[in-house]
Amino acid sequence: MPSLLEVDDVTVVFGGHRALDAAGLRAEAGSITGLIGPNGAGKSTLFDVICGLRTSVHGRVTLGGRDVTRAGPARRARHGMARTFQRLELFGRLSVRDNLLVAAELGPDRRRAAQVVDDILDRFGLTAVADACADELPTGTGRLVEVGRAVAARPSVILLDEPAAGQDHTETERFGELLRALADEGTAVLLVEHDMGLVMNICDEVYVLDLGRMIATGPPATIRSDEAVLAAYLGDL
Ligand SMILES: Nc1ncnc2c1ncn2[C@@H]1O[C@H](COP(=O)(O)OP(=O)(O)O)[C@@H](O)[C@H]1O
Ligand SMILES: [Mg+2]
Repeated sequence: MPSLLEVDDVTVVFGGHRALDAAGLRAEAGSITGLIGPNGAGKSTLFDVICGLRTSVHGRVTLGGRDVTRAGPARRARHGMARTFQRLELFGRLSVRDNLLVAAELGPDRRRAAQVVDDILDRFGLTAVADACADELPTGTGRLVEVGRAVAARPSVILLDEPAAGQDHTETERFGELLRALADEGTAVLLVEHDMGLVMNICDEVYVLDLGRMIATGPPATIRSDEAVLAAYLGDL
């Protein structure tokens, strides 16, 4: 069986510097796949290639068996891909509800967009701030809205770039449960995250990127004791 998302042989060069070197990964429906690595390893750049914001020198991205290597971000989104960014990219002057509504109206459930939004507000614990302006929110809450907005488009695969940054311990724990529930509904969750506790707790499979190369892949228990991974992190795990 092919995986829902298959990424192979991605190479990106920035002015002579190889940000990614033949990197690839798989994300399965119903699974949480972690992508970790030190700062500058190439995680966000790999997300850019996966969602079509940047092209790879060679390589291939397939989504649900469909080759989308040459498709732009909008077409990939229509085929079920959603993504959040490391820096918050909300519509700052719109309310939380309207931020979600914009995405829901682009998704396959657009006729019942208002209901999709109400469900997400409830599920993400955002009902109390539904009418607040997005740029008035604390960072942790803003990230939740961003993930909610990605979910509103009913994606089959969701790419999250450091979504727990700025969340406290309790928020992070609740967030982990949210991601698990999303995966249990069949979504493929691809998670870039610095919070190792969260990654090791909720991921089914973890990929480790260092200096643009994938140096290890496996379940959290294996990754935690992998020599190359420990060396890349200088024992920070
Ligand atoms: N637009 C860009 N132009 C030039 N270099 C970049 C650009 N984006 C990222 N890089 C470089 O590519 C490497 C990988 O960056 P990035 O993907 O942001 O890493 P990570 O998300 O793992 O921290 C870094 O060395 C970074 O400085
Ligand atoms: Mg990054």
